[in-house]
Amino acid sequence: MAYSKPIDSAIHIIPEPVSVKVNEGHFRLSSSTRIISTSSKENGVANMMQRMLNISTGYHLRSEKHETGKENNIIILKLNQFPDTILGDEGYTLNITQHHVVIAANKPHGLFYGMQSFMQLLPPSIESKAVVPKVIWEAPCVDITDYPRFKWRGLMLDVSRHFFTVKEVEEYINEMAKYKFNVFHWHLTDDQGWRIQIKGLPRLTEIGAWRVPRTGRWGTFKAPQPGEKATDGGYYTQEDIKKIVAYAKKRFVTILPEIDVPAHGLALIASYPNLSGTQKQYPVWPQYPPDTIDNVLDVANDSVWIVLNKIFTQIAELFPCKYIHVGGDEANRSFWMKNPDDLALMKKEGITSPAGLQSYFEKKLEKIIVSKGKRMMGWDEILEGGIAPEATVMSWRGEEGGIEATRMGHHVIMSPYGSTYLSQIQGNSLIEPPGPGMITLQKCYDTNILPEGVNPDFILGGEGCLWTEYIPNNRHLEYMTWPRALALSEVFWGTKDKSTWSDFLRRVQVQFKYLKTAQIKYATSIYDPFIEGVKGDDDSMKIKLSAQIPGLDIYYRFDETNPDNFSPEYHNKPLSVPNGATAIKVITYRGGKPIGHQVNGPLSWLEKRMRK
Ligand code: ACM
Repeated sequence: MAYSKPIDSAIHIIPEPVSVKVNEGHFRLSSSTRIISTSSKENGVANMMQRMLNISTGYHLRSEKHETGKENNIIILKLNQFPDTILGDEGYTLNITQHHVVIAANKPHGLFYGMQSFMQLLPPSIESKAVVPKVIWEAPCVDITDYPRFKWRGLMLDVSRHFFTVKEVEEYINEMAKYKFNVFHWHLTDDQGWRIQIKGLPRLTEIGAWRVPRTGRWGTFKAPQPGEKATDGGYYTQEDIKKIVAYAKKRFVTILPEIDVPAHGLALIASYPNLSGTQKQYPVWPQYPPDTIDNVLDVANDSVWIVLNKIFTQIAELFPCKYIHVGGDEANRSFWMKNPDDLALMKKEGITSPAGLQSYFEKKLEKIIVSKGKRMMGWDEILEGGIAPEATVMSWRGEEGGIEATRMGHHVIMSPYGSTYLSQIQGNSLIEPPGPGMITLQKCYDTNILPEGVNPDFILGGEGCLWTEYIPNNRHLEYMTWPRALALSEVFWGTKDKSTWSDFLRRVQVQFKYLKTAQIKYATSIYDPFIEGVKGDDDSMKIKLSAQIPGLDIYYRFDETNPDNFSPEYHNKPLSVPNGATAIKVITYRGGKPIGHQVNGPLSWLEKRMRK
């Protein structure tokens, strides 16, 4: 018997499956449950499931290979004998009755995703890293059919601005795989650090991986001082890289390596100063280098091409991904225009603009990439001056680059900075740690990767990008990722007719329990109040209060004391400022309990930012 709303609301899977039918009853996991895979091809997923279930239940479940029988209390993982065309490579069906859990798919990828959905149907304690006694390990009876909307579902991590260890990167990949992301885009190089060992270029990791230590706010750091030691940084050895690639593969995550050229190249140029036009020796920089520093590779220099060949040969060998990301963004091309060799090259090749010279660079680079059996991908600047023939474009400056590239018949990944850049802050700037811009959870959720004018046949999918200028530690990395990556997972995996924002919010708030149990730091910014100064009819400032989500009660005080639920409540009517007040203090409650952080808004600060 199928139930509709009340019982459906027990399902909180993210990303939302294509179809869910909730039936009466539960499957109860016990110490005698057996995990059965029908052939050795399912073993990898079955072993992983066994490990995941045993950690928190304390059971000793063992996966076994078996012809499926009629026994009760079993979890079956099986590959379909006759592939189901709707499911594709990554889809699955998950059928739970009181006696069986059956996950079926065409490929192990699908079984893995079916397993992840099953985990989200068990109580949040399943995410515990230690045994949790006295839990009833039940999952509701359901029939789920599910498959992704887009085949490219990525998260990008910048490990140059701040370095993250092998373990931290693995944990990141593990967490993203739970929400059915399948591409980890690894931004391995930038002005602030080179992070990958390249054999034959030892200075990259001796010099390029290290910069002077700075603590505090990005953008205020002192330049490297004469004689100062560069002690902050790190890099991955080729053995580390192989380990992480294998770790990701087990979780059906492909790693897209990015080596950002011709610009964002100061760590490379600090290691080998002969590669820039000015040939000056600069240190690796602890923040954005000033415009006067030449961080751009010299296109006309043969040494540049020898080095690039060496680097991309090894990148192609280390990473099984069929794409290599070559960056291409934000090149200060004016350095080329001051370099006689580059000007001579332009003349010889009939190139008439700086963008044309970058296009020449990208086309020459694409030949190297293709000669290694790979395809080239780059940020949307690679469109300028003429795109390389086979290149795939990552559209970050908005949607226009992506739209244009699809019209020209190029594949595109959508990562518009206005809704997918997780490096931007996610709530009230009065209390959020610093970062550029603001993207709320809802803004992520509203990301449209098939904007008007795009040719959808060429959109592979999307990515959320995490630039780490303002992210100096792993806990903050998690905070900036979750829950907004949940919204993106729903955009990239979920159906076109995805459910409402309010239903997503319901599910997100349940997922908080899973994240908390998994000891992942997530942001609760959706509960925090916004405070805004707006100009009233009489030209005086009025105060508007709001929250990111409905259903919160907002209380405030102008008298310097801390508000609670006995304080004045805000009812959608902008407030007049009492004479003499210098600040408004605001807090949110739900169901009689405080839920958001208290925000203190200095009136002078609000006045400066007042909306007319
Ligand atoms: C970028 O954000 N510069 C790709």
